[in-house]
Amino acid sequence: MTGKSDLLSITRVFIQRIGIHEKQRLLLLILTQVLVNLIDLIGIGLLGLVGAITVAGIQSQSTSPTIQTILSTIGLENKSFQMQVSILAIVATSLLVSRTFISLYLSRRTFLYFALKSILFSQSILQDTFRKGFESSRSTSTQGFIYSTTSGCDVLMIGVFAQSTVLVSDIALLIFMGIGVFILQPATALVSMMIFGSAGAYMHLVLNKKSKLLGQSGAAQAVINGRKVQELLGSFREIYTANKSFEFITEISKTRKASTDNQAEINYLPIVNKYFLETTLLVGALSVSAIEFVLNDAETAISGLAVFLAAGSRIAPALLRVQQNLLNIRNSLGGAGPTISKLLEVDNFDFRKPQNQKNLAASPPQVRFEAVSFTYQNSKDQVISNVTFKVGAGETFAISGPSGSGKTTLVDLMLGLVSPQQGFIEIDGVNPRASIEDGLVTASYVPQEVQLLSASFMENIALGVPTSEVDLAKLSMAIENAQLGDVVTSLSEGVETKIGEEGVLLSGGQKQRVGIARALYSDAKLIILDEPTSALDGETEGFIATAIESLRGSATVVVIAHRLNTLKNVDKLLYIVNGSIAAQGSFEEVRNKIPNFDYL
Ligand SMILES: Nc1ncnc2c1ncn2[C@@H]1O[C@H](COP(=O)(O)OP(=O)(O)OP(=O)(O)O)[C@@H](O)[C@H]1O
Ligand SMILES: [Mg+2]
Repeated sequence: MTGKSDLLSITRVFIQRIGIHEKQRLLLLILTQVLVNLIDLIGIGLLGLVGAITVAGIQSQSTSPTIQTILSTIGLENKSFQMQVSILAIVATSLLVSRTFISLYLSRRTFLYFALKSILFSQSILQDTFRKGFESSRSTSTQGFIYSTTSGCDVLMIGVFAQSTVLVSDIALLIFMGIGVFILQPATALVSMMIFGSAGAYMHLVLNKKSKLLGQSGAAQAVINGRKVQELLGSFREIYTANKSFEFITEISKTRKASTDNQAEINYLPIVNKYFLETTLLVGALSVSAIEFVLNDAETAISGLAVFLAAGSRIAPALLRVQQNLLNIRNSLGGAGPTISKLLEVDNFDFRKPQNQKNLAASPPQVRFEAVSFTYQNSKDQVISNVTFKVGAGETFAISGPSGSGKTTLVDLMLGLVSPQQGFIEIDGVNPRASIEDGLVTASYVPQEVQLLSASFMENIALGVPTSEVDLAKLSMAIENAQLGDVVTSLSEGVETKIGEEGVLLSGGQKQRVGIARALYSDAKLIILDEPTSALDGETEGFIATAIESLRGSATVVVIAHRLNTLKNVDKLLYIVNGSIAAQGSFEEVRNKIPNFDYL
């Protein structure tokens, strides 16, 4: 639920985040939008004047003393009444039309300003998530995270903030009009205020409440729907072979039904408002003319009606915009909830490129774990207990042990993704977490399941480097050493071929070699590799083994090994059970200490 207090807090956060210069500019933008409404007031006053002069002219009477004074002030007292009417009508219309264009221009500026802010604020959420570390990134659902950092941000910045700014301008217009009409025609003003006031109150109390509720459930449903479709694609093979697609799609349709009905309602509500106001304007005009003609002479009555119609033609659309805006804002406020809570958790809004983005080590580094113990935030079991070991510079080092023993956790500690509660970790004497915070590149990591980017083969290897800046010689070296030469030759456009989700798919073994090529291209002097657990055919296994072997000498290599073949070839290995070291040393030493080692 997004309450008023959340809205206040997020507005405060917003104001604090923008610089003093921007604050002034934003204030000026709002103020101009408010003051530009005064042009309308002058235009409408002039139209009232036009009405009065016309009636007097047609009846061949002279106009009232007040009008005479106004006419002489603007230098029109000696013109014919037709001339007076034409000039005044043209000036009035020009004023009203130019006000419309100025307001349109200012609204656009406002919307674009907040669109830019949406991008900056989603950057901040993403960057803060990285800064807070691995464990916090795991605490939200993927779909919820995607929503709150993309659409949710737009909904907040554009749907709530930009629309509120425009709303202020329209409310100012209504106030100015109310005061203006009151001075010119108090009776007309009172009647219109009663009519438009009660119409506004009804729409606000009944329709807007509903809209907010619809917005809230809409956002929640969008996330659920997204997750269901994601699951459908993610489990494609299982669902396909079990022939259960009908059941899954029916299930998705059920949740979709709720959200599409919701969307229909959201889009329908503004139409209700529009017709409601149209009717109100008609009834209003009828009531005002009746009152005017009963109470006043023709000249006053006609100029009163002219003022009402002219003002009404501005008030009704403004009221409608206020209503629509309030509806949209309420609706958006529901949808912005996830983004608001994310933004309120952000501790540091800084987003800039780290200064010294270079490799921590210029040559293969040493890695040292000293009495390291670690417990995950959300559990009480110690996952790593008092682990001490050393990886020598340039060594190939394996970590092995049963499933769930803590191998991945050990590597996460080495990468600085998580920090130990006890003991310390050093890469060439430096704490990995601290050096990442300093902007250094500590290691290159090859996960078990390498994620391909939906991009060219080349971009997938030279991760984060623009295509035009890729070092082609280094690229082909990385491809060769990672045993990917044949793969590239078989692709239709060579290294330019698009791979990943929207391109050519690669096998598990090929993906892992892309990961190794990435590590080679990055020049990292510490390479950490999580060997695939899945069964690979002999040839692929050989390719990967050769690729790992090609890293020897150019980097310190730490590999989570699952295969006897890999274990046999390393310089040293560590065997862990339940988070503690069961054995470490050469392959033979560990093999002798661990019963059943050969059957792993
Ligand atoms: N984010 C987490 N929060 C809480 N507990 C976790 C988390 N990640 C892992 N664990 C627990 O820590 C222990 C070690 O997990 P880890 O992933 O390091 O094992 P592993 O040796 O890599 O296993 P495998 O060979 O199956 O990949 C397990 O008991 C696991 O349940
Ligand atoms: Mg693991």
